[in-house]
Amino acid sequence: MSIQSLSQLFLALERNWPTVSETVARGNINMLRSFLGPAFKGLVLQTSRGASSTLMTASHDVHYDWQYLREFPAMARLYEAAKSGQWNVNDESLDWSREFDPLDQVNHLIPDSYCPGVVLPIWGKMSEKEKAEHRQALLSWMLSQILHGEQGALYGAAQVLQAVPWLDGKLFGATQVVDEARHVEVFHRYLNEKLHRKYEINENLYVLSEALVADPRWDIKFLGMQIMIEGFALGAFTMIRGIVNEPLLREILRLIVIDEARHVNYGVLALKRFYETELNEKERAEREDLAFEIALLLQRRFLIHEMYEEYWGNYFTLKEWNKFASDSQLMTFFRNSMFRLMIPNLKRLGLLTERSRPRYAEMGILSFESGRAMPDLTSEDILAATP
Ligand SMILES: [Fe+2]
Ligand SMILES: [Fe+2]
Repeated sequence: MSIQSLSQLFLALERNWPTVSETVARGNINMLRSFLGPAFKGLVLQTSRGASSTLMTASHDVHYDWQYLREFPAMARLYEAAKSGQWNVNDESLDWSREFDPLDQVNHLIPDSYCPGVVLPIWGKMSEKEKAEHRQALLSWMLSQILHGEQGALYGAAQVLQAVPWLDGKLFGATQVVDEARHVEVFHRYLNEKLHRKYEINENLYVLSEALVADPRWDIKFLGMQIMIEGFALGAFTMIRGIVNEPLLREILRLIVIDEARHVNYGVLALKRFYETELNEKERAEREDLAFEIALLLQRRFLIHEMYEEYWGNYFTLKEWNKFASDSQLMTFFRNSMFRLMIPNLKRLGLLTERSRPRYAEMGILSFESGRAMPDLTSEDILAATP
């Protein structure tokens, strides 16, 4: 191993050790087991860094259906809504012709108040050009992670539709595959044509993506993808839509939120039925622990390390940055948007019990449990709640 890769290894361990050690301390060994391989590849070897592609191994069962029973009416309704809710990235409903400068120093892409550095004295000394670069970088970082997440959702949806036991679920799943393909298409086009800047996948998002591709249990893919990552994405979409000053992106996000609300609905319908009828208590508790670990990962580990390395490495230690970024207005707003939708869904699925409630309380997000859960909350409600 070269000196360079050794130092990368130490840096990766420094960055990620808290995630691993806290999981061990909670005795959540099952969670560690399913995440160990992907974590070693993603966090230590950093296989996704600078790579043009990555091969991951999948091992789920494909459930073939010979009866073609249509016996899941709520799912069938969702399938009908999905078929009539299709849109096209390239038709006239989206106006790609309007040009704008992502480094515009007058019409700001996003308000400065969402750039974590804004509270520092150095921000006042930066030129308008440098501030514009920070705004462009932050929006590009967020949309790049969303793009990578959409790619994960595309493969996750394709796997899940093979594995679910109900025909209505398979049919709906096919529409989700098309939706996610469109999301990959639209974010990639926007980053390339409008923002002119892209970031690689965040290493924690990589770990989660590979762990979900590799896990053979379809309901774990569902829980991780449809409830946790889609909930995370919905939070990001509503937050970005609320702060961005660019009509095309706002319209794209409006269309995507409607799609994503269907996907989360799908996850809740499928898992509720499966958990109530198929799982014993030990298996249910394992899902409860897994959901908590993913929530923690999503809350603690998306701290814009890429921007830290690029702009703030000379001003903060990594530990200081983590606290600083975590307390920033951006992250506070984002966490609220994300968990407001996710926590009521976990409760509805029976994954928020007296065992895990204190842990969520410690994270400061238990107050969301009394909110409305996704199947009651329409995409219009979500959009209306956008600040
Ligand atoms: Fe999506
Ligand atoms: Fe989705």
